[in-house]
Amino acid sequence: MIDGANAAIYIQLAAHALSLGTVWIQTMRNIRDIQKILKLPEELVPVSILAIGYPDEKPRLRDRIPLDKLVYRNEYK
Ligand SMILES: Cc1cc2nc3c(=O)[nH]c(=O)nc-3n(C[C@H](O)[C@H](O)[C@H](O)COP(=O)(O)O)c2cc1C
Repeated sequence: MIDGANAAIYIQLAAHALSLGTVWIQTMRNIRDIQKILKLPEELVPVSILAIGYPDEKPRLRDRIPLDKLVYRNEYK
């Protein structure tokens, strides 16, 4: 799961560097359906589906939680 998530994020970063947009589409609630559609063997669990394409709009930046509320150094405080 962790390797799959890491790989997906690196693919997203690489796509971004090529001016491509991506959307991570969750798989965890639909694993069996996705396995069926893609004819995956049962032991292959899809971690992520990435939609990749050229954006036709410029997404506006959304308000973000300030970094100092999310990132801690050395200890959680
Ligand atoms: C684990 C995960 C699953 C996601 N699943 C979906 C999804 O099923 N459909 C979708 O449109 N976006 C999905 N997204 C994308 C998010 O909705 C959102 O667009 C993305 O995390 C960027 O949001 P942010 O800029 O607020 O961080 C998913 C993102 C993550 C990290």
